[in-house]
Formats: sequence, structure tokens, C-alpha cells
Amino acid sequence: MSIHKEVKKVTTNTLQKMKAAGEPISMITAYDFSFAKIFDAAGIDVILVGDSASNVMAGHETTLPITLEQMIYHAQSVVRGVNRSLVVVDLPFGTYQSNSDVALASAIRIMKETGAHSVKMEGGEEIIDSIKKIVAAGIPVMGHLGLTPQSIYKFGTYTVRAKEEAEAAKLKNDALLLQQAGCFGMVLEKIPAQLAKEVSESLLIPTIGIGAGVFCNGQVLVMHDMLGINTEFKPRFLRQYLNLHEQITGAVQQYISDVKRKDFPNAEEQY
Ligand code: KIV
Repeated sequence: MSIHKEVKKVTTNTLQKMKAAGEPISMITAYDFSFAKIFDAAGIDVILVGDSASNVMAGHETTLPITLEQMIYHAQSVVRGVNRSLVVVDLPFGTYQSNSDVALASAIRIMKETGAHSVKMEGGEEIIDSIKKIVAAGIPVMGHLGLTPQSIYKFGTYTVRAKEEAEAAKLKNDALLLQQAGCFGMVLEKIPAQLAKEVSESLLIPTIGIGAGVFCNGQVLVMHDMLGINTEFKPRFLRQYLNLHEQITGAVQQYISDVKRKDFPNAEEQY
């Protein structure tokens, strides 16, 4: 008999059941083994290997430059640290927008080379054929509507989306299309809380909000923002749970001082 307790893994079905039971879904981004291991052990439901890696890991201004190879590297590292959480991986810009064959090939590479459980794609009606093809191949897809950072040069700004009736109506229609196409859930980013409520109530699949209010079926934050590693980004929707920037700066300054004063290493810290 194994001494290891079987963990109940989070699946796309688990998320559907959580929505039906009214239990909020927790989701956070991760890009490497060590943080993924901590988040998984802490009990997070979903880990998103976000293309925000382009910003917070690589230092780019937008999410556009990150490549499929780089996303695969991050996803492989995250998957090695995960035992229980559902792992979702962003398909990066340029790997699914051109046509559904290209989109399917990209999604297959993510699934085959990383061991992740699903992919996420930004957009509605315009990518429906690709979503259907990927779902038909047995790959779970999470949608992403509202502020879609891969389209930043179309929007021209990171402000709240769908405040006007026409854009809100398109978003509502896109949400239904994503559900019909077989998505198991969707991220709603930076839209009014009342619109997110309407969308969430109109769907059977869960919505995960970021800057979309409390009526979504779950919430997601970028780890660098919520842990206070990245202190320049302070949007209204962000709750910062730690100030790691300050703590790490203090710790490294103490280390530098200890080295300079020849306080480190001491007699117990050497051989
Ligand atoms: O890439 C990312 O981190 C995301 C979240 C903002 C949802 O897509």
C-alpha cells in the first residue's frame, strides 16, 4: 500500500462543479518551477502560465514578443512543480490568429511538449473556428475577453473595456460563442462589474475575472503584482498581499553589508 495520500487533482470538470456549487475559483500566474510548487501546495485551483511572462520575466513592454518556444519553456518548468492545480498555458501572439491549422499546431505543441492541461486564447468570434478545431482535437480551451493585451496596439490603451453599449453587446455575444465552441471557462479582463455579472449569469461555464468585479466565478492575479515584486503597476483592481520588492531589497542589502564587513560567512557557516 502506498504511503502517499492521493491528491484530488483540479480538472476542467472540477471548475464546472465549482461554478454550479457557487464556490469561487482561485487562479494565479506562475512561470517557473519554484513558485508553481509553492502556489500548488498552498491550494490554488488554477495556475496560468500567462504570456505576461513577456512583461514580468523578460522585461518587454507588451505581451507581443514572447514566442511559442519561450512559453513552452515556462510551462514545462511550471508543470514540474504542480501536483494538484489545473495548468492553463497562454497561446502567444502570432501562434493562432492566422488560421485554424496553425492554431491547432500551436496548441498541440503546448500539450505535447509541456504536460500542461489546457490552453488559453484571446478573442471572440474572430477566433471561433480555431477554438472549435482545438477543442475537437481534445484540448481544453479557456477564452479571454475584455481587455486582451495581445491587441494592445488596436486598443491603444489599457483602460477599462466595454463601457459603451456596442462593445458590451459584442462581448456578451462573444462569451456565448466561446461557450458554444466548447471553452471550459473564460477570463474577463478589466470590464465593468455589472457587465461581468450579466455575462457570468448567462453562462454555464465559469468566468475568471481580473479587474472585472466580484460577480465573476473566480479571480486571477499576476503573481508579480499581488506579491508586490513589481511595484510600479498599481491599478485600482489590484490587491497587493506582500511587498516582496521591499523585503527582497532589505535582505539583499543586509547580505551585501554582511559580506563587506566579513560577518558572512561565520565559523559555523564554513568547512
Ligand atoms: O498573461 C496573463 O497573465 C493573463 C492574465 C492577465 C489573465 O492573461
